[in-house]
Amino acid sequence: MNPDPAKLSLGNFLVGEGLDPLQAPAMFTKWMEAGAWAVELYEPEMLATADARTTITYDGKPQSVINFCSYNYLGLANHPEVIAAAHDALTTHGLGACGSPMLSGMTDLHRELERKMAKFLGREDAMLFNSGFGGALGTISGLLRKSDVAVLDNRSHLSLRDGATLSRCRAEKFEHNDPASLAVSLGRNMGKRQLVVIEGIYSMDGDFGNLEKLITVAEEHGASVFIDEAHSTLACGEHGRGAAEKFGVEDRVRLTYGTFSKAFGALGGFVAGSKETLRYLRFYAHPYVYSCALPPVVVAGILQALEIGQSQPELRTKLWENADYFHRQLRGLGIDTGNSTTYVMPLVIGDRERMYRLGHELRARGLWVAPVDYPAVPNDRICFRACVTALHTRADLDEALNILEDTLVPNLIAQNA
Ligand SMILES: Cc1ncc(COP(=O)(O)O)c(C=O)c1O
Repeated sequence: MNPDPAKLSLGNFLVGEGLDPLQAPAMFTKWMEAGAWAVELYEPEMLATADARTTITYDGKPQSVINFCSYNYLGLANHPEVIAAAHDALTTHGLGACGSPMLSGMTDLHRELERKMAKFLGREDAMLFNSGFGGALGTISGLLRKSDVAVLDNRSHLSLRDGATLSRCRAEKFEHNDPASLAVSLGRNMGKRQLVVIEGIYSMDGDFGNLEKLITVAEEHGASVFIDEAHSTLACGEHGRGAAEKFGVEDRVRLTYGTFSKAFGALGGFVAGSKETLRYLRFYAHPYVYSCALPPVVVAGILQALEIGQSQPELRTKLWENADYFHRQLRGLGIDTGNSTTYVMPLVIGDRERMYRLGHELRARGLWVAPVDYPAVPNDRICFRACVTALHTRADLDEALNILEDTLVPNLIAQNA
C-alpha cells in the first residue's frame, strides 16, 4: 500500500511497526521526506531576542521578521531590568540549581518567588516547576488517584491529558466550554472524586474558558476545579491574576496553575493553593521531586518580571489594545479567527497543503506566524497561530496586516469561490 502523503497526518504513525522500537516507522520517514518542504517551517532558529521584530533562519539565511510567534505577551523576556536581574543572579548563584528542589536545588531566590507568587495570587502557598508542562502533568498526576475521575474539556492541553493518563484515573471529556456537556460527564460518575480541568485561555483557539458557567456545574455536582492559566497569568485580569480574576471566580477555585513561559517571558510553571495541599503535592508530583529545580538566573528574571507585571498595568492595557485592533482589522479582511477574543488568534486556512504553501509565502515576506496542523487542531481547522504582544507597534501590526491581505486574502477568496 502506498497511501497519498497529503492524506496522512501525525495520527497515522502511532502504531509500532517492525521489530525495533528504536527504528522510526519506514512510512513516517517517507512521509517526512515527501513533506520536507512543509516541515522546513518548523524549528526555525531565532537569532535574536523574542522582540516584536526579530531575525530567524529561513531558506538557509537570516530573515528579518515581524514576530507573531513568541509568547512574550508583555515584552518581559527582553526587558532590560529582567535581563539585569538575571545577570546579577548569575554572579551570585551561578548557572544551574544542580539538584531537585527537594534535596539541593532550592535557593533563597526560589523561596522568594514562591512567597511572592502566593501573595500575588492571594493563596497560602505556591510551588515552582522547571517547566510548565511538568507543572501541569505533575499536579494532575500528583493529586489524582486510580479511583478518581478527571473531567477535561476536549480542547485541553496535552500536559493536562498526559497528567490524567499518568495518574491512571478515569478520564472523561466534555464538549469545549459546554456546561450541559460537562453536566452529562459529571453525572456519569457521581459518588467518585472528580476534578474538572479547564483553561483560562485556550492555547490554540485563543478563546476564554467559560469559567463561571462551568464552575457552577462543577459545584452543583460536588466536583473540584483546576484552572490552567498558562496563557492568562500576568496578561489578563485587572491585576494580572488571570482569567479567574477577570471573570470574578477566584474564590471558587482552590488551585491555580500557570506558567512562566508566556507573559513572564521566561520558563517554568507554578501551582498555588493551600499549604496543606501543596505540602502533599511536593512529595507526589514526580516532575517536582525527581527533576532539577529552575536555574536561579531564570528565577531572578521571573521575580523582576513579576514586579514589572504588577507595577506597570499599562503593559496589559497595551496588549489588549493591540489584540483588539488586530482582531478588528482581521475581521475586516474576512480572515477567520474562530472564537478567539484574546491576543492568541488562529488564522484559519482549513487545508493543510495550502497552509504550508502560504506559510512559506508569509515567511519570505517577513511575517512569522506559527503553522498549526492536526492533531493540535481538528483537520478542518488547520491554521496559523498569531500571538499579539504589548511590544507590537501600530506600524508592526499594519505591516503584518498588509502582508496578510496580499497573501492570505486572495487564497481565501479563491477557496470560497
Ligand atoms: C494551556 C497550556 N498549558 C501548559 C503548557 C505548558 O507550558 P510550558 O510551555 O511552559 O511548558 C502550555 C504550553 O504552551 C499551554 O499552552
